[in-house]
Amino acid sequence: MSVVTRDLPSKAATTKLAAQLAPLLAAGDLLLLDGPLGAGKTFFTRALARALGLTSEARVTSPTFTLVQEYATEPPLVHADLYRLSDDERGVFELGLIGQRDDGALLVVEWGLPFARILGGDALVMTLVREPRSASFSATGPRSRRLVEALGLLSWESE
Ligand SMILES: Nc1ncnc2c1ncn2[C@@H]1O[C@H](COP(=O)(O)OP(=O)(O)OP(=O)(O)O)[C@@H](O)[C@H]1O
Ligand SMILES: [Mg+2]
Repeated sequence: MSVVTRDLPSKAATTKLAAQLAPLLAAGDLLLLDGPLGAGKTFFTRALARALGLTSEARVTSPTFTLVQEYATEPPLVHADLYRLSDDERGVFELGLIGQRDDGALLVVEWGLPFARILGGDALVMTLVREPRSASFSATGPRSRRLVEALGLLSWESE
């Protein structure tokens, strides 16, 4: 199974998908969120952070300007948005994300697809489509392939 696709007709469906993915993820995993402006990358990350145990008082905001934000989840979630770095590989490298990944963070990166290699590779790639809303998962290495397979085995009824 190389690609797993889920329709996301409602915010509840997106939240449910985040809740399905959360228990599969582990320290050191890399999730790249692809898709156009407003496709739901930040919305999904917020739901994922909640599913990983972030308290409801903690705000999850878009890292459009801060570039990187960290959350006290299990594993710790590092949320980055590389839109403003477009093709600046050096700038991305200098953010130190790969070091955080090595230290056990779960890296969730909006607009990160061009940087898969310098983020350490083996990425679970989630491609969000806006009209109609859906998400497709693919993999770039052995660990992420297992994640796609595990997701594909879970039952899914979109609501
Ligand atoms: N099924 C759905 N899943 C996710 N978001 C939805 C859904 N339906 C409506 N929305 C709305 O769509 C918007 C998605 O915005 P969000 O900031 O998550 O996009 P983004 O992909 O992070 O954009 P950007 O590239 O600008 O960072 C939110 O306002 C959210 O409430
Ligand atoms: Mg965003």
